[in-house]
Amino acid sequence: TMKLNLALAALYSLVAEAKDDGQALKPPMGWMSWQRYVCNVDCETYPDSCINEKLYMNAVDLLKSEGYADVGYTQVSIDDCWSTHERDANGDQVADPARFPSGLKALGDYMHDNNMRFGFYSDIGTSTCGGYLGLKGYFEQDIAKFAEWGIDYLKLDGCYEDLAEMSDDYSAVSKLLSDSGRDIVFSCSWPAYTPDNGESNDGEILKKLSEICHTWRNFDDVADSWVSVSSIIDFWSRNTTDAPFVSVSGPGSWNDMDMLMVGNNGLSHGQERTQFALYALFATPLYLSTDLTTVSAESKAILQNTEIIAINQDSSGQGILLDDNAAADSQWWMIGKIYGRALSDGTFAIVMRNSGDMGPSTFIDFDVSSDTSFALRDLYAGEDLGSFTGTFSSSIETSNVEMYIVTL
Ligand code: GLA
Repeated sequence: TMKLNLALAALYSLVAEAKDDGQALKPPMGWMSWQRYVCNVDCETYPDSCINEKLYMNAVDLLKSEGYADVGYTQVSIDDCWSTHERDANGDQVADPARFPSGLKALGDYMHDNNMRFGFYSDIGTSTCGGYLGLKGYFEQDIAKFAEWGIDYLKLDGCYEDLAEMSDDYSAVSKLLSDSGRDIVFSCSWPAYTPDNGESNDGEILKKLSEICHTWRNFDDVADSWVSVSSIIDFWSRNTTDAPFVSVSGPGSWNDMDMLMVGNNGLSHGQERTQFALYALFATPLYLSTDLTTVSAESKAILQNTEIIAINQDSSGQGILLDDNAAADSQWWMIGKIYGRALSDGTFAIVMRNSGDMGPSTFIDFDVSSDTSFALRDLYAGEDLGSFTGTFSSSIETSNVEMYIVTL
């Protein structure tokens, strides 16, 4: 067991150094094509799942009709493979005319007419990871063009770029975006391309990123499997408030753990609950990457849990792993973990996680102090559990979590 109140007090010391331009005050939420639709450009054979304007217009429609827009998923993000392979006679990038016959300005208008933000993708280097056009050599011209198309968010990848040039180049693009006349949220992939995810020299790169970008990818690409999702969660499960990436998290400045796999094929129900609860606790952008017509009712309930979304969107910085050994000694086959985040209203979000894969469900508990009363609300059940004094114990299934609000 752990003394929860002492562990949580430490979280209050977190103050982020945000890029202070009033944008991305909450982690962005929306739908991004990459994981589910990758770089499928063969629209003749795969008319319903290739990268074309219809895919993104459908995503706009479905976010609205399936209830996702109402709970905050209001950005639709184009990813790689939208362009032609050559610039036009003016040196401009152009969307593939066969797949985007109406053009990107019209697609952006469709998004805006439906109250969606237009998320966009490019690469700081000579070409994108998928081999399409990059920005290198054309920063001014391309950013002006993207702004003309009406983008609201730019994920700028880091393939085919010299590491030594990343700092200057991402800074230059940041300046161009600020001067573009549009409010454009800037997502930078720089740390993901460094050997240590931007954490060396006391997080020198992350500090710089928090000044020039609103969000950044600092770890591997997510795939639709528990191996992938749990490796991402493990990377973020540090139990220290002064880890470089923890200390830069806050309004206008978010670590991006990559897309949610909830609603796809690779995770069990408990693993979907785990990914969603911890992505909320770690204050990362929430991007769906799934076929919105096939999400099960169970998965949809996870994605549309408004109380968990509210934790993700809180104006505090990200939470941390408080205790990685919270199982009773007699239950040596299970792995009990407790995560926490101090919320801006003075309450705490707690995730109790059984990350083991042996045995049945097992109890995890925490102590507050023998004479302190606290109230608990179970967020997946949507229920107040009542008041407790001193200690609380919960039975957690293997490879699953429970998430609570603790009010001291
Ligand atoms: C990189 C990024 C992914 C995706 C692909 C596109 O791997 O990390 O999220 O954008 O490029 O090629």
